[in-house]
Amino acid sequence: MTKYQKRPLIIDTDGGVDDALAMIMALNCDQLDLKAITVVAGNIDVDQATNNVLRVIEIVQPQQLPLVAKGAKKPLLRPPLNAAGIHGADGLGELSQFKNADGSPRYPQLTLEPSSEDAINVLLQAAQEYGSELTIVTLGPLTNIATALQRDRTTLQKVGRIVIMGGAVKVSGNISPAAEFNFFVDPDAAQVVMESGIPLTVVGLDVTMKVTLPLQDLENYAQKQSSLVSQFMIDCTGIYMAFYRDNEDFFGCYLHDPLAMGVAIDPSLVSTESVYMVVETEGRFTSGMSLADLRARRDESTFPPNVDACLGVDSDRFMKLFYSLVHSRD
Ligand code: BDR
Ligand code: CA
Repeated sequence: MTKYQKRPLIIDTDGGVDDALAMIMALNCDQLDLKAITVVAGNIDVDQATNNVLRVIEIVQPQQLPLVAKGAKKPLLRPPLNAAGIHGADGLGELSQFKNADGSPRYPQLTLEPSSEDAINVLLQAAQEYGSELTIVTLGPLTNIATALQRDRTTLQKVGRIVIMGGAVKVSGNISPAAEFNFFVDPDAAQVVMESGIPLTVVGLDVTMKVTLPLQDLENYAQKQSSLVSQFMIDCTGIYMAFYRDNEDFFGCYLHDPLAMGVAIDPSLVSTESVYMVVETEGRFTSGMSLADLRARRDESTFPPNVDACLGVDSDRFMKLFYSLVHSRD
């Protein structure tokens, strides 16, 4: 029996383009009670990522504003690595380039501000208050979650589940042949989370690269549903989609983070396998690789399953959910 009418949720994000699309979904989802958005360095530095989160909230204008709290400035043990080359210099498609007909900025100065509270405290307080009812969805490197575990493991272990966008089980990586970006940026943190004992759903490239948003589809959608949200979706994805046009020969983008959000909303969108997963923290060529024990004869006492890894996805059903949640409130 659940105590809450809506499911309490926290998003931990590194403020990039697909993160923005995932946040729009959550801010519009009536089944969720989005308590807070905690921010981590990844796609872009943590200050800019925080501004990007506030930007998305200002555009969606939800009835209830989630608290926004800044977290880790860099990975646990390594120097930061950003993805500005893919997400744009601001991490969000370089929004300052867009102007209204009268020349004024389409995305003016932000009016919202982040909370003065530290993201790690926000995560721990929410774990304490909502316990097993709370889901955390992570859309960036796992530095904040690992830091919360290191600060107070017992309290963070109270959460019901963490849905993680990261890793690649049976497919190649994206930032390297072996590793997916979020695990590559902070493999030490990812491994701390793998060992947390918290129920984990890993939404990796096996499934996220099966959900794509072609530019043409987005343009058709924006034409039918003209709003600030659909205009923002076109604007923020421009540089991101151009990257895939130039590098992977399709004009559109993967919906990595939106799929993780979709799985948090409706776990039946994916099929999962319960596996033992570790993240390589030392490999010369394999740093950040998620290694799942898929052997038929594995010894479950030595390699106990710690993760529900997503291996299949109903892409059509996910896209329906996606389009139903990226609307505007005006
Ligand atoms: C992940 O990397 C980031 O650049 C995206 O936002 C997503 O979270 C995909 O590998
Ligand atoms: Ca992300």
